[in-house]
Amino acid sequence: MSTTVDDLGAQLIAAEGAHLAHNYHPLPVVAARAEGVWVTDVEGKRYLDLLSAYSALNFGHGHPAILAAAREQLERLTLTSRAFHNDKLGPFATALAQLCGKDLVLPMNTGAEAVETGIKVARAWGYRSKGIAPDAATIIVANGNFHGRTTTIVGFSDDPTAHDDFGPYAPGFVHVPYGDADAIAAAIDDNTAAVLLEPIQGEAGIVIPPEGFLRRVREICSANNVLFIADEIQSGLGRVGETFACDREGIVPDVYLLGKALGGGILPLSAVVANEDVLGVIRPGEHGSTFGGNPLAAAVGLRVVEMLASGEFQTRAKALGEHLAQGLESLVGHGVTAVRVAGLWAGVDIDPAAGRGREIAEKLLARGVLVKDTHGQTIRIAPPLTIRATEIDWAIDQLRHVLP
Ligand SMILES: Cc1ncc(COP(=O)(O)O)c(C=O)c1O
Repeated sequence: MSTTVDDLGAQLIAAEGAHLAHNYHPLPVVAARAEGVWVTDVEGKRYLDLLSAYSALNFGHGHPAILAAAREQLERLTLTSRAFHNDKLGPFATALAQLCGKDLVLPMNTGAEAVETGIKVARAWGYRSKGIAPDAATIIVANGNFHGRTTTIVGFSDDPTAHDDFGPYAPGFVHVPYGDADAIAAAIDDNTAAVLLEPIQGEAGIVIPPEGFLRRVREICSANNVLFIADEIQSGLGRVGETFACDREGIVPDVYLLGKALGGGILPLSAVVANEDVLGVIRPGEHGSTFGGNPLAAAVGLRVVEMLASGEFQTRAKALGEHLAQGLESLVGHGVTAVRVAGLWAGVDIDPAAGRGREIAEKLLARGVLVKDTHGQTIRIAPPLTIRATEIDWAIDQLRHVLP
């Protein structure tokens, strides 16, 4: 019997179900190709991508300039390990340091690795520079945080799904409510090495802290000789209409953690970026990664940084973000209880009477829109920054259709 086109997707989903670990619950769509903001499934149906692989596709699928950099490098040199130098890593580090206004870059691969690296740097800085007693360093983190999936990181998550049954957990983390600068000030003691925060909490549902919070955290950290580590892995690199979410309050953290979009939607590339007095505490042999700083990733990262340096994507995200905000706000009271928007990044709280977030995502999928729910009732919207106003309008129309 011949296979019809219609059941190809179902077959592929069944094959995944049989042999893939069940650590995800994907929506029932099997992508086969994509270009710009549009994804095509194995059955030829097109979808507007409003997730962008959790902001890893800020420049859209297959951006020609990023593809060109990757193709050119793929033919020349892809991997050396850090045992040797390569001719792409220096230019990439220089460009990224410049974009961040910092001295040094430590390249890794995934976001969680950048966070782990930031934690190691903060602890080493605490012992070697601040003079904290051995093994006593603590890091202040926020309730509702999401910084990745490694064992240390899930240890300080307060989301039971991320955290439970993966102990014993690494000690040395102190929790405070997100957005509460006074709580941070009160939690700091002589052993505090760093405050680690998302400037906007992504996985929590695009939770934007009160105006002035980041400025106060900056002041408190400076006054107490504590590092401010900003996890900009999801919020950074143009997403919020600025290069970094910290720019919204005109502040510069001591350490930037970057990932996702840094790899241009092509490969994993993350980085820790800080000044010499902080990142310089790491000595040869103390930290690294076989693939970290590989020439293929560096070539892609360099192109991404060059694209961001023009400011074009940030400006676009700001202008179109206002358009998105207007559209989403028109839905409040019509199946939506609240929206939070920063640039082209939005959390949309669905009225429980209208259904669970997952149900709305499934209905949108049927209408050709890709979104993902988070924490039950919230839909997260993060289109590629290349989306057009007419495409935003079309997406809002689809959302309006699936809400009561
Ligand atoms: C703020 C933040 N930090 C870290 C991570 C972890 O990144 P990765 O999945 O690449 O390890 C994420 C992923 O969603 C994130 O949103």
